Amino acid sequence: MLSSKQILDKYFSFLGSKGHKQIPNVSVVPQEDSTLLFVNSGMFPLVPYLMGEPHPLGTRLMNVQRSIRFEDIEEVGLDIRHTTAFHMIGNWSLGDYFKKEQLEWIYEFFIKELGLPPEKLYATVFAGDEKIPKDEESIEILKQIFAKYGIEAKEGERIFTFGRKSNWWQRGDAIGELGGPDSEIFYYLGEKPPKPGMNPETHEDLFLEIGNSVFMQYVKTKSGWEPLKQKNVDFGGGLERIAMIVQQKYDIFYTDMFYPIIQALEKLTGKAYKDHTYHMRVIADHMRAATIIAMDGVIPSNKDQGYVLRRLLRRMIRFGWHLGVDSHLTSTLLDPTVEMLKWLYPWWQDKKKDVSEIFDQEESKFNATLKRVQPKVDKYLSTTSKLDENQLAQIAFDLYQSDGYPPEIFIEDLKHKNIKFDEDKFKNLYSQLFEKHKQISRKGAEKKFKGGLAAHTDTIIKYHTATHLLHAALTELLGPQIHQKGSNITNERLRFDFPYDKPLTEEQIRWLENWVNSKINEGLPVQFVVLPLEKAKKLGAKYIPGEKYPAQVKVYFIGESLDKAVSIEFCGGPHVKNTKEIPPIEIYKQESVGKGVRRVYARFRK
Ligand code: ALA
Repeated sequence: MLSSKQILDKYFSFLGSKGHKQIPNVSVVPQEDSTLLFVNSGMFPLVPYLMGEPHPLGTRLMNVQRSIRFEDIEEVGLDIRHTTAFHMIGNWSLGDYFKKEQLEWIYEFFIKELGLPPEKLYATVFAGDEKIPKDEESIEILKQIFAKYGIEAKEGERIFTFGRKSNWWQRGDAIGELGGPDSEIFYYLGEKPPKPGMNPETHEDLFLEIGNSVFMQYVKTKSGWEPLKQKNVDFGGGLERIAMIVQQKYDIFYTDMFYPIIQALEKLTGKAYKDHTYHMRVIADHMRAATIIAMDGVIPSNKDQGYVLRRLLRRMIRFGWHLGVDSHLTSTLLDPTVEMLKWLYPWWQDKKKDVSEIFDQEESKFNATLKRVQPKVDKYLSTTSKLDENQLAQIAFDLYQSDGYPPEIFIEDLKHKNIKFDEDKFKNLYSQLFEKHKQISRKGAEKKFKGGLAAHTDTIIKYHTATHLLHAALTELLGPQIHQKGSNITNERLRFDFPYDKPLTEEQIRWLENWVNSKINEGLPVQFVVLPLEKAKKLGAKYIPGEKYPAQVKVYFIGESLDKAVSIEFCGGPHVKNTKEIPPIEIYKQESVGKGVRRVYARFRK
């Protein structure tokens, strides 16, 4: 039986033999795209290259990318496949090969390399609409592929066509976003062949999506989708789901990407997974997601990524109570989590102690809250016999909203107390409240996701180059140990974190501003070169310590030539062409963000 690592190794060696170069598995916290909370697919770092900028490693790329999708957090645990964190294996053609190669290779990978039975695989293709034609080409290619394995792949039987909702992929909806029709691969989980009329849309539970080839060839403009200057492929497949099929586990939590956490939980609680499936799934899922997020430097808070981390931790702590664990759940599960994923993240070992402290702190705070909430819950429970479903749903919703008390546990509390109520009605009313709330918070989320290429507005590009200048100025002022610990850019300002343990003086701030503004005034060209990693480091180019870089890196420099450059930095871009395009800056705020890390904010002078 192949382990997840072996599956990934096979993918890399198979795609590698087709000329693909591996790009790094980057932090789930977007580094320069402040419009999105988490990286949620492998293509995120590639947007500029899909648009035509040359990539230092060429036109065929592949990777595995840790990704977070937390919008469906409530669904986790209810089925065999939903998770908040997952690993996307991906390959890209940047204006190189297209449909034929992609589809042939990916089916070959699943069937020949991983040994999946071809008769279990089903395909979907874009049905076309008034703007973009039906993808007949993919249908023809798929028919030929299946024919090679002795399968007559008829449309409506083996190959299904659907509209935009199912067979079109785009990252966001802003002008400038990229998208295109896609072709998904499904593994059929049923024992008997599907009956006529059954398909991935009518029987979601029986057809498991294991891969999606997006034919990314359009860009969204004011007047609609226009063809891009190059035709790209963006393939993504969930490693955990693929492992589920290859390892023949009909539950993702039985794969080697989750099961060690479940086993640790069984040991810790003395309870069995088969009897406590839902709670154990939620804990295992949230533990993995929380660890990934925390290892990437996020700490629990009430905002943005920190809030998501807090919510994951709180939810699993409460679920832990239900299993009888009321302390050190998260830090206890950290060991098996780090151990399980050490083949992907050997560096987690060094950060384990810090993360364990963060988890413990959050857990003891929340356990104290729970102890406080319990009397409130008990009080409600003593009056509930007089309440109707409407009021019960409202109580459940309030408890959930204000204290993170899971509604399903509230339902169990009610049953335990032998309180009679119409469960369906209650759930319905609760869902309505929840949906209403979700719509409100979705609006917030949409704002966060509006991004895409909004992330590359002129102002953001200017701030990006200004960030390089500020980084160079700080190095000049404070010494070569200065490096980027964090950077975040919006249309209004730049923010930069660096290692320094005291406040900057007024005089130092003026010096930094003057230095940056004089380089802006000089009108220096901004250029890049692609260099072997070691050579770039030798040149003194700034990079982020600990970050994994490919063998060839793109290095941006500001100045007439590399030896006269005032700033040299590893970076994918984009940047302005000349510093004179940037308005003068002012540093308007500074603060400390944790031990030894200083943060400065700068904006363009009005
Ligand atoms: N980017 C595509 C997806 O997320 C592959 O499905």
